[in-house]
Amino acid sequence: MTRPVVAHNPAELSWPPEPGKASVARRAPESEHADPVGSVGSVDRDGPGVGVGVGVGGGAVSALELYDEALAAHLTGLPPVHLLARPAGGLPVALALHRWCAPAEPADRAALDRLRAALPAQARVLDLGCGPGRHSAYLHGAGLAVLGADTSAAAVALTRRSGVPALHADALGRLPGRGTWDGVLLLDGNVGIGGNPRRLLIQAAGLLTPGGRVLVELDPDSVSDCRWLQLGSGERVSGPFPWARLAAGAGLGRAAAGSGLVVNCYWSQHGRRFALLSPG
Ligand SMILES: C[S@@+](CC[C@H](N)C(=O)[O-])C[C@H]1O[C@@H](n2cnc3c(N)ncnc32)[C@H](O)[C@@H]1O
Repeated sequence: MTRPVVAHNPAELSWPPEPGKASVARRAPESEHADPVGSVGSVDRDGPGVGVGVGVGGGAVSALELYDEALAAHLTGLPPVHLLARPAGGLPVALALHRWCAPAEPADRAALDRLRAALPAQARVLDLGCGPGRHSAYLHGAGLAVLGADTSAAAVALTRRSGVPALHADALGRLPGRGTWDGVLLLDGNVGIGGNPRRLLIQAAGLLTPGGRVLVELDPDSVSDCRWLQLGSGERVSGPFPWARLAAGAGLGRAAAGSGLVVNCYWSQHGRRFALLSPG
């Protein structure tokens, strides 16, 4: 959820007061940037679900709450909520909620078609961090059996509204059908969930059939790292959560090593980068 793809000038984005001037508690990451593809130390792996900070408004707010609220506004037709993400020590960028709530784009469709070409006609695909379900909906429309999974209740509701079944579940937790999925999606930066791409690839490998494929979207700027992010909405700031970025080439190679997956191919389209991996 944190791939900042909207071309706003960060200087124009208004972020709530600086953490030093407000009551945002930030637990210091123990190994920030230390291992670009590994874990972030002993902190909780939490995706956007478990904020550890305190909002400037005085109440604790998690990233998941802010994200859920923004998607719920979309779900119920309320005016759009603007959500910003800010890396520790960096500038805020707008989250691309409007893209996630829109149909899959040409680069998405081309990547999903490439995945389909490698799978049986009625393949079963699990979309990890499905968001509002644009990729799930595209594959569902193409006749595949798709299941979305997301920690955001509003994302799950939106995916279901598009006609695709979805689970309210943690991508790194216990998921149904281990060893039976023909395809697993980790799109739009979702390989960064939890700040530990290798762990996510191990999870994906365990979900796949022997002939299955994982479709991964990689960092468009060829960066591999793990950062602490906070979400901001209006006056509120979430607690920090870890999110990784993974580059094609050595970054993905290191993350895949020992995961049970091998890289089949890479490609770029419309400034985005993708890879297919398979058990091996
Ligand atoms: C960058 S958005 C991408 C959404 C969707 N894949 C798309 O491209 O439209 C990331 C999504 O991952 C979900 N997410 C984050 N952490 C998660 C976790 N631990 N388990 C499942 N979903 C998670 C977020 O709720 C969010 O919907």
